[in-house]
This record gives sequence, C-alpha cells and structure tokens, in this order.
Amino acid sequence: TNIGVFFGGRSTEHEISVISASQAMAAIDRDVYDVTPVYITKEGRWFTGEALTEVSNYRDPKKLLQQCSEVYMRPAYGDSNLYLARRKMFGTDVAAHIDVAIPVLHGANGEDGTIQGLFDLIGLPFAGCDVLASANGMDKITMKMILQACEVPVVDYVWFTDKEWFDNRQEVVDRIESKIGYPVIVKPSNLGSSVGIGRAADRERLVQCVTDATSYSSRIIVEHMVDNLKEINCSVLGDCDEYQTSVCEEPIKSGEILSYEDKYMGGSKGSKGMQASAKRIPADLPEATSDRIRFLAGETFRVLSCHGVSRVDVIMDEDNGQIYVNEINTIPGSLSFYLWEASGIPFAELMDRLVKLALK
Ligand code: DAL
Ligand code: MG
Repeated sequence: TNIGVFFGGRSTEHEISVISASQAMAAIDRDVYDVTPVYITKEGRWFTGEALTEVSNYRDPKKLLQQCSEVYMRPAYGDSNLYLARRKMFGTDVAAHIDVAIPVLHGANGEDGTIQGLFDLIGLPFAGCDVLASANGMDKITMKMILQACEVPVVDYVWFTDKEWFDNRQEVVDRIESKIGYPVIVKPSNLGSSVGIGRAADRERLVQCVTDATSYSSRIIVEHMVDNLKEINCSVLGDCDEYQTSVCEEPIKSGEILSYEDKYMGGSKGSKGMQASAKRIPADLPEATSDRIRFLAGETFRVLSCHGVSRVDVIMDEDNGQIYVNEINTIPGSLSFYLWEASGIPFAELMDRLVKLALK
C-alpha cells in the first residue's frame, strides 16, 4: 500500500503543515507501507521526491525543489488509485502510484473540504473528514451554528460579513455590544492557528480588530471572551459511529490568547517547532472535568460527522466551571500524536489506524 502524504499548501498554516507532515511520514511503518510525499507549494504547484520528507531541507526551498519532480494528478478510472505524472512528460512518465491519501494540510485549501472533494472526484480513498465535515469544521460560524443546534455549549457570538461591516458599522457594533459586551475575541471565520485573531476590551480596539480580520476573511465572528479561562484540548479518533477520546492537554500560553508563536515556535522567542510548544499532558483536572471535556469532544466529533483524527479545543471558565467548545481542527497540528502517545497509542499505530479507517 502506497500512502500519499499531501502537505504544505496554499494556506497561512503552510509551515506548520510541513512540520506535521514530516513527523507523520517519519512515523509511518516502512515495513508495512510505502510513502510518497506530495508537497504543495504556497503557489499551488505540486512536487514529489524523497528530499521532501526531511524538514531541514525546507530552509533552502530552491535547492529542495531542484531535487524533486513537479507532478500533476492523473486519476486512474475504474481503479481507486492516483497516478502522479511528471508535468513535462504529459501522461507518460508515471512518478508515483498512490493507493490512499493522507492530507496533512492545515487551514484553507486542504483542511476545508477542497482537496477532499478532489480525492472524491477521482475515487481515491483518503484519511480524515469528508467534504461536508471538513467544510463545516473549518468555518467557525457554521461550526458554532451546528454545535448550538445539537446542544453542545459554545460561547455567545455575533457574526457578520465584511460588507455589513463596511456598509453599516454602527449597526454591527451595536449588535455586538448589546448581545455580548466587552471583552471580545474577533476572528476571521475560516482560519486556524490564531491567524488574524484579536482581542478587544473597548469599541476603538474592536473597530481595529474587525478591520484587520476583514483582510483575512469576508465572514467575521466576534465571541464573548471568558475573563478567567483555561484552554483544554482533546483529540478524537475513529468515525462518527465509533470513536475514542484521548487524554486532555493544557497548552501553556505566554500572552492573553495563545499565539501562533506559542502554538508552533515553542513560545514567542523559541524556534524549535511544534513539539517544543509548552503543554501539560495530561492536563491537571479533576476526573469529572476531564470526563466532561472528553464527552463534549466526542459529541463535537459525532455531530459534525467527523472521521479520522480531530482535535477539539474547549474553553473552561475558571470562575464557574462552565465548559464551552471553542473549535475543532479536523487535521490537527502533528495529527495530535502526542495526545495519543499519552493515551497508549504510539504514532505508528495512529498512522496505521488512519489508513485502515480510510480504506474501511
Ligand atoms: N490549526 C492548527 C494546526 C491546530 O490547531 O492544530
Ligand atoms: Mg486551532
């Protein structure tokens, strides 16, 4: 079985994807599986080649790509396979033959249902969520609407489009102030890894944050900010009929909200990559609290019809113990392997399970 690992991509989380994918490729048991890396550049060109598996090679992208072949996809009709053909020798020189795809793409053009749709169209089995679950999970507004409808607790929010904002800012500000009040968190609807997120404690800052967020997305969500909060993450593995939850993790933040640097660079000054980011595993919580979080993570996975491995991030209000689901990452950073290792499932087994779920 040849696994195509798809990563990089036209996304603000491109670099994180390179780290996640290199970890995943290193974990796959090579006695059982072959691995074909498929790297998608920020411009959307596709490359394959052994050199793509080594994360340090990305320091010199020009040299790296010179060692690789540019490819395009050639579906094999009637056969659930994908041929990667070398771009310049149209349809003749087959570079790789893929049996199952594992998208390790974060954010736009990969975690949002787009590449899943492409795999569906050509009949290639793939790991993780389908088009519907990916798209619903990526969009923070749609996701919250579904969770609310299914009685999964979420914080109060208001959403609007950039056009509403620019045409009638006063009405939108009034709506935010009357429905949720300050402080708030402003987020573009469809980005991950804290990109484009701002916190506002007054109207002036709100206007600034929303205006910033409109440069990332045409749909904006403004959420109530829990004053005294703890963030907890929990991973879910399986499909919506049968799944299991991992131990909980408490990411450690250096500012008021977890930043991109906290999450992936090991704190604002570090640069050691994702594994260096500080986290407490398992999170130090009373058993009843971690049970509740695991239950809500599972419910989130179930009602969104997820598949494969996802990570659900929750917020706990430390003043009253209330727990709210904040978001789901349907292709979580590092595929959450560190949570499964702490739950008794080694990374190689996680990869094996993802392949088996994809082929089921
Ligand atoms: N979106 C990133 C990769 C995460 O939260 O895991
Ligand atoms: Mg996230």
